[in-house]
Amino acid sequence: MVHRLWPDPCPLDDEALTAAYAVSDRAGTHLRMNFVTSVDGAVEVGGFSAGLFSHGLPRDADLKVFGLLRMLCDALLVGAGTLRHEGYQALRLDRARRSWRRAHGLAEYPTLVVVSSALDLMASNPALAEAPVRPIVLTHAAAPADRRAALEPVADVLTLGDGAVDLAAGVERLAERGLRHLLSEGGPHLFGALSAAGLVDEVDLTVSPLLAGPGADRIIAGAGHPPARFALRHILADDHGTLLLRYTRP
Ligand SMILES: NC(=O)c1ccc[n+]([C@@H]2O[C@H](COP(=O)([O-])OP(=O)(O)OC[C@H]3O[C@@H](n4cnc5c(N)ncnc54)[C@H](OP(=O)(O)O)[C@@H]3O)[C@@H](O)[C@H]2O)c1
Repeated sequence: MVHRLWPDPCPLDDEALTAAYAVSDRAGTHLRMNFVTSVDGAVEVGGFSAGLFSHGLPRDADLKVFGLLRMLCDALLVGAGTLRHEGYQALRLDRARRSWRRAHGLAEYPTLVVVSSALDLMASNPALAEAPVRPIVLTHAAAPADRRAALEPVADVLTLGDGAVDLAAGVERLAERGLRHLLSEGGPHLFGALSAAGLVDEVDLTVSPLLAGPGADRIIAGAGHPPARFALRHILADDHGTLLLRYTRP
């Protein structure tokens, strides 16, 4: 069971949990990041985000919110590194989540959007080849032409910028296609670039009650940029000490 600790402490059933993460203005654009971290700020243990729930820690609450955020978004934005490394599969939702989306005027499935410079992606990758809706790849004009051609049978490859992906233009192009509510599951380099471009509206953070120790990177990486203040919207917890924090722009 997930409880809200602040504000208004109470247990949250599925409906209340959905309401806790709803974005009120569905007409505007919104980009939320969803990440897991350890108590000491690690982005992975043993190379994978799932390692943050090792040592017998149940991941149920994190996975519940993970699935819920996918249900709420128009598109899932992910860096090619995370797609390759974490072994993403086709973005399928269960029947209940698909019918929730239909009832709320959303497409049956969110669209997968992959950000890549090198286009080191196989067209046979199941996240692309088996996707229930045609995925989108955001890249730039200097990306290898042969790799672009290889991906075009399975995805719309959009060119944004000359030598680097212009993410602000990418968000605009997605909005023109009706993909206004974006969820990003990272990874850290994509988070850094989105944050540097001032595009992040929300950060949803799961804190696993694990001390990972030194070695791992943080949830954000890349070139430096000025800090940006965010406002805490809620603190949720499960019965095992996992915290689920929601921050938005003030
Ligand atoms: N704790 C968590 O919640 C969480 C979430 C996600 C990932 N992770 C962990 O993070 C690690 C991976 O980190 P990462 O920083 O490599 O992930 P990442 O940001 O997904 O991957 C970096 C790659 O994605 C593409 N990319 C990202 N931003 C881009 C941009 N602005 N423009 C063009 N391409 C861009 C590039 O792919 P190309 O090489 O194709 O150009 C780049 O090499 C793994 O250990 C993973 O398990 C943890």
